[in-house]
Amino acid sequence: MNHNYWKDKTVLITGASSGIGEAIMHRLNGLAETIFLLSRNPKIITENNSGKNSRMILIPCDISKPDQVEKAIKSILKSKVSSLDVLFNNAGITAHGRFDTTQMAVFRKTFETNFFGPIRLVQGLVPLLLSAQGTVVSTSTVSALYGVPGRSAYSSSKAALHAAMESFRIEMSEHKVRSILVCPPYTRTNLRQSGLDEDGSILKEEQASGKIKTADEVALSILEAVENPKSKLVTIDKSGFAMKLLRLISPSTLEKIMFNKLYKDFH
Ligand SMILES: NC(=O)c1ccc[n+]([C@@H]2O[C@H](COP(=O)([O-])OP(=O)(O)OC[C@H]3O[C@@H](n4cnc5c(N)ncnc54)[C@H](OP(=O)(O)O)[C@@H]3O)[C@@H](O)[C@H]2O)c1
Repeated sequence: MNHNYWKDKTVLITGASSGIGEAIMHRLNGLAETIFLLSRNPKIITENNSGKNSRMILIPCDISKPDQVEKAIKSILKSKVSSLDVLFNNAGITAHGRFDTTQMAVFRKTFETNFFGPIRLVQGLVPLLLSAQGTVVSTSTVSALYGVPGRSAYSSSKAALHAAMESFRIEMSEHKVRSILVCPPYTRTNLRQSGLDEDGSILKEEQASGKIKTADEVALSILEAVENPKSKLVTIDKSGFAMKLLRLISPSTLEKIMFNKLYKDFH
């Protein structure tokens, strides 16, 4: 990580109360000049950050609620900050369940959190991004690279985010505003205790088995992706790379692998 890159930067992080967003915040605290934090739990965020010197601006916001996102945008635009260098579109939820039994309300909630909230926020902050020639980096998932069985709401909400943020990237390229999509593999966070099951109840699943990343490893990959001017679609490990490749060269092989590997998740 290039510490100098972050000097004097103004950044905004959604979902910094836990997991990957929290790890990004810890790495940037003391490097970035100003860190806006949009969260449903702003108090939790301040607890572990004493003794460092970035200016933290806490804005309460449930990203799935349009009025709260609008209010957050207004308060950022009214602040003395005139530009935004990096917007970490990171808050998100997962949703697990078969396609045929997942309630529509679960699809809607997942899309409000993972798609509508983030794009509303980016739209509202375009003037600040333009003024900084800034970067939007979205924490996506390998599950956005192909519809994953047992994850139709999650996969589709993040895949929709890809399409919107790719359109944004092309439209903004003449203004040198960037959009990066990062697709982490399984990561040890609260995601499986905070997502939704097919009925809309809170999930309480164990972490994925096997070798999984730490939130800090993923945060570092995200920060390095921002520092690299060529980043567009970033897959962090072999699982993302294989998904991206097999989608193009042999989707039927990819579907067979997912059927066998994830059978228990949807049967
Ligand atoms: N963990 C993985 O295996 C994995 C893999 C690939 C991608 N990702 C992505 O990584 C991102 C971060 O997740 P994580 O793994 O770090 O899980 P996490 O520990 O559960 O963190 C999720 C964060 O999003 C926030 N959030 C959720 N719903 C929100 C809402 N309606 N309004 C405002 N904030 C909300 C949570 O804040 P509250 O404290 O308010 O709940 C929390 O800070 C997500 O977008 C997820 O899709 C995770």
